[in-house]
Amino acid sequence: MKGLILSGGHGVRLRPITYSQQKQLIPVANKPILFYCIEDLINAGIEDIAIVVGPNKEQVMNTVRSAKWDANIEFFYQDAPRGLAHAVKISEPFLSDDKFIMYLGDNLLKGGINGFVKDFVDAKVEASLLLTRVENPEQYGVALVDEQKKVILQLLEKPKRPPSNLSIVGIYGLTPSIFEAIDNIKPSWRGEFEITDALHWLIEKGYSVRYDLVEGWWKDTGKPEDLLEANRLILDGIFSENKGSIENSRVSGRIVVGDNTVIGENSTIAGPAIIGNNCSISNAYVGPFTSIGNNCQIIHTEIENSIVLDGSNIAHGGKIIESLIGKDVKISRNGSLPKGKKLVIGDNSEIEL
Ligand code: TTP
Repeated sequence: MKGLILSGGHGVRLRPITYSQQKQLIPVANKPILFYCIEDLINAGIEDIAIVVGPNKEQVMNTVRSAKWDANIEFFYQDAPRGLAHAVKISEPFLSDDKFIMYLGDNLLKGGINGFVKDFVDAKVEASLLLTRVENPEQYGVALVDEQKKVILQLLEKPKRPPSNLSIVGIYGLTPSIFEAIDNIKPSWRGEFEITDALHWLIEKGYSVRYDLVEGWWKDTGKPEDLLEANRLILDGIFSENKGSIENSRVSGRIVVGDNTVIGENSTIAGPAIIGNNCSISNAYVGPFTSIGNNCQIIHTEIENSIVLDGSNIAHGGKIIESLIGKDVKISRNGSLPKGKKLVIGDNSEIEL
């Protein structure tokens, strides 16, 4: 069986970070989200994987190629985000006539997909979806199911009156019949070829679409608060590892410290937290659920519940909470007069003072 990961799209809800960086490459606990997806497919025994790339295709391809994988990985270019079903269609030459798993490259699942893939291999169905119970089904694609037969009877996109609280998760088991379905659908009101419309077509034609329920947590990292929650969930499961040096500082909880990183001068680190390679932390507090990338400096600053990307330098930053800080960001104190906040901020940034 083959695997297909979607790593295109503009990631509008994560601007300004996604102006310069593809969403699926944003690190959670210092690892790109996309890498968790690739690992899940490989752990489920899938050795042939295609990744659909879009706006920042070179960045995605270079990042994936910079790591070693126990799988053949190739890339398909989608010229514009024309929808999930369009991404499947352009990958048809690779997927050919076999069953395949489609994994949205911005989704994170705690329990992996081994059970789901095994059930799908054994089942005689046209498609299989992973579902999870949500509190606000009107904001998701929702499935009406027959619990006894374990099949999906109806799929509705963001229904005003949801028939269940079962939402579609971004992992799909598909067969070549999906190509026929995609050929028979039209773009939706938002101009995209929707995979839910294609699946709906299969159900209408009487094909069997089964489902499994997610075990453990699932996170779609579309918005900054989702990324921070995913970061919390992943950090919750880390084990301590120290490759750097910790001097004159207090450490509690589980922390991971990278090569050549120095934590010193009266700092406090309260895990779970991860600090990358070549960082310098001094006179600072790094609190729970914080991920700091490589080559960062945190000086005279308190930070918790946050993600800081590579190369950022934060000095005298006060107390920073629940923040997503991009690459090579500089935060410093204005020591000159007139006193005040000096800002150079990209389009679509959000600042809460
Ligand atoms: P979305 O989250 O629906 O879209 P997006 O990532 O562009 O984000 P936003 O809505 O904030 O602009 O996409 C789900 C996943 O599918 C995500 O990993 C991107 C990917 N995708 C493609 O690869 N091609 C596409 O045409 C679309 C629509 C999404």
